[in-house]
Amino acid sequence: MQGKGKAPTKGIRRRGRSGRSVQKGSFEADPFDPRLITVKVNGVARTVSVEPRKLLVDFIRTQLFLTGTHVGCDTSNCGACTVLLNGSAVKSCTLFAVQADGSEITTIEGLAQDGKLHPVQEEFWRNHALQCGFCTPGMIMTTLSFLNQNPNPSEEEIKLGISGNLCRCTGYQNIIKAVQATASRLGNEPHKMH
Ligand code: FES
Ligand code: FES
Repeated sequence: MQGKGKAPTKGIRRRGRSGRSVQKGSFEADPFDPRLITVKVNGVARTVSVEPRKLLVDFIRTQLFLTGTHVGCDTSNCGACTVLLNGSAVKSCTLFAVQADGSEITTIEGLAQDGKLHPVQEEFWRNHALQCGFCTPGMIMTTLSFLNQNPNPSEEEIKLGISGNLCRCTGYQNIIKAVQATASRLGNEPHKMH
């Protein structure tokens, strides 16, 4: 007599979250099933299960709980979500987390060391380059990436370099001053991220 235990599953078809029928035990993967990715975040290796449709910014905020990376739009315009991916600034709302598998990510939380602000953070503070601060993490990550590529920029080059980041408060003048001050402070040295 058949017991009340778990029904045998061999050969049974189930439905994945996509609604498609998937043969149990077959090798056909449900594209909506979570996958394991390994990333190095602010110097620490993390292996995390993530849904393939999850945006990198949502992964950073809701699974790594690094909420300094902001979401300011749904059109990839504002740059508030900017992080460094293998040292280059990216808008993390434009990538899926699975695309970062095997990469190194630096967020704003990874800059200060031993309770001491990174020089770019200090210069934003000293030059009053923020008001509400919402755009600031993205602006700082963009500045770091930009100065790594162009350590001695002109004012026009700075304007172009930060043009993918919007600030609704400051009018940009003090942000430009902060980038200039960071550039003179860091000189031509490659910048340590964390
Ligand atoms: Fe605005 Fe990413 S959240 S560009
Ligand atoms: Fe408020 Fe830039 S300081 S948006």
